[in-house]
Amino acid sequence: VLLEVENLSVRFGGVHAVQDVSFAVLGNEAVGIAGPNGAGKSSVINAVTALVRASSGSIRIGGEDGGPVDVTRRSAEARSRLGLARTFQHGALLEELTVLDNVLCGARSEAEGGWVSAVLCTPAYGRRWRAAEEAAVATLGDVGLPDLPLRRRVRDLAPADRQLVSLARALIAQPRVLFLDEVSAGTDPATKSRIGQLVRDFCARPGCGVVFVEHDLTYLRQVADRLIFMAEGQILAVGAPNEVLGRPDVLRAYIGGEPEVIGA
Ligand SMILES: Nc1ncnc2c1ncn2[C@@H]1O[C@H](COP(=O)(O)OP(=O)(O)OP(=O)(O)O)[C@@H](O)[C@H]1O
Ligand SMILES: [Mg+2]
Repeated sequence: VLLEVENLSVRFGGVHAVQDVSFAVLGNEAVGIAGPNGAGKSSVINAVTALVRASSGSIRIGGEDGGPVDVTRRSAEARSRLGLARTFQHGALLEELTVLDNVLCGARSEAEGGWVSAVLCTPAYGRRWRAAEEAAVATLGDVGLPDLPLRRRVRDLAPADRQLVSLARALIAQPRVLFLDEVSAGTDPATKSRIGQLVRDFCARPGCGVVFVEHDLTYLRQVADRLIFMAEGQILAVGAPNEVLGRPDVLRAYIGGEPEVIGA
């Protein structure tokens, strides 16, 4: 088990964004999360990665050696050190910085030597920096952006390229559990299928798994091993994608929230 979430709840004032949500992610598993707008999908990812505070519940990350680590009260940084990385529904890229800088933000190695070596520009720092740059270039190639100018400012990128840069930023951290919040939204069909393949490839690595939010039912069927369907902050159904998406109550919840998605 890579991740265990138990009875997770998230509240924003009077809004119960997430209520009593429990699920686990196994190794080599892609878990999809679907549901109408406002169902609480992003809030689940945000709480698990510590972007927002859970009002109750517990989160455990499977240890690389030994048992799971309870991270319920640990920082986002601590959780990322234990192998969580993510993309954001609304980009959250550093707009004024370059593509390269944005991807490097996700890399750990170049920060590891501490600020003294950075300020003094020691040879070790230079080596780490060059290695990080090479990793960034390789990762941009992996996500399908081998020709993107590294020095271009992120604010000047097309929407699909921004999504891919944010995917590269998550991947360069070499996570064990990758969280993707609508990362293929607004991309063309070719890019979308490449992202789907990337998710599958990532999942195939030992000790890795993915949790992804997505509206496109075809994509969900193709990419998810297991689907969690949320409505009004709760899990309405969980299981094989075809099974879940065939359930009348799931279809009703979708039609109630977002009719056009049924034909997607
Ligand atoms: N930071 C926040 N402050 C206040 N309310 C929030 C915040 N984030 C989410 N909410 C509310 O929590 C509920 C769940 O929102 P969430 O963004 O998790 O839904 P979602 O399933 O990701 O929807 P979408 O498909 O539109 O992305 C909504 O009612 C939303 O308005
Ligand atoms: Mg969302």
